[in-house]
Amino acid sequence: MEVIITSGPDEIATIGADAFCHLLDRKPEAVLGLATGSSPLTIYDELVRRHEAGAVSFAGATAFTLDEYVGLPADHPQRYRNVIASELTDRIDIHPGRVHGPDGLAEDIAAACAAYDAAIVQAGGVDLQILGIGTDGHIAFNEPGSSLASRTRIKTLTAQTRVDNARFFGGDPEAVPQHCLTQGLATIMEARHLLLVATGRAKSEAIHHLVEGAVSAMWPATILQHHPKVTVLIDAAAASRLALSDYYRETYASKPAWQRF
Ligand code: F6R
Repeated sequence: MEVIITSGPDEIATIGADAFCHLLDRKPEAVLGLATGSSPLTIYDELVRRHEAGAVSFAGATAFTLDEYVGLPADHPQRYRNVIASELTDRIDIHPGRVHGPDGLAEDIAAACAAYDAAIVQAGGVDLQILGIGTDGHIAFNEPGSSLASRTRIKTLTAQTRVDNARFFGGDPEAVPQHCLTQGLATIMEARHLLLVATGRAKSEAIHHLVEGAVSAMWPATILQHHPKVTVLIDAAAASRLALSDYYRETYASKPAWQRF
């Protein structure tokens, strides 16, 4: 696991966008794993900026999102399919038909989840998956207690996550759907490169567990310790509980530019 403690949002945007651009440079037909939430937004904005400047094209790429609320109407602005369109995919040249997300309106949820996992495999697997992390250590919507071997399925959001996400629903946690479909931890672990982004002190406990804690279903993100290629891109506040922060800083500072991604 590589931990990069950045100077803040601008550096996160640059390093995160570099990861996507280097991948698309060597593999224009790459499969991208996209997350919603606040954490990836500076990276998405930077990708849009580079795309508009002609520096990167997504025309050959395919994308899969991590999760979706259950039951939100198709035109609801907080439906993750709509969120990812307005935050990224409608602003770049990816083919809309190649942007996939779990179907939160499916009648047969189990079948839709199995089909989603199969579609990812069929596309060749995710090359680069961007992830946020919840204050309770969730990735995608794998809440504490999730099976470390889980596949895409329905989950119940915790009260904490509904409070955290209430800002997108007029400040009312009750307005946040109680259920979601989410890629499982084992599904996420099959991506070839995982890029986890977190900022702010509220994420510092989760980041501490992710990087330096024991692997446990109580802190689902800790499963990433078993992945061979994880980049943790954080600011100083999110890094504030890391025992080895000086070591991570030193390691990244001495890394030759050609070895970065
Ligand atoms: C959203 C997702 C969630 C978020 C997490 C952090 O697709 O997968 O795991 O990444 O809840 O959310 P933010 O980035 O809003 O703090």
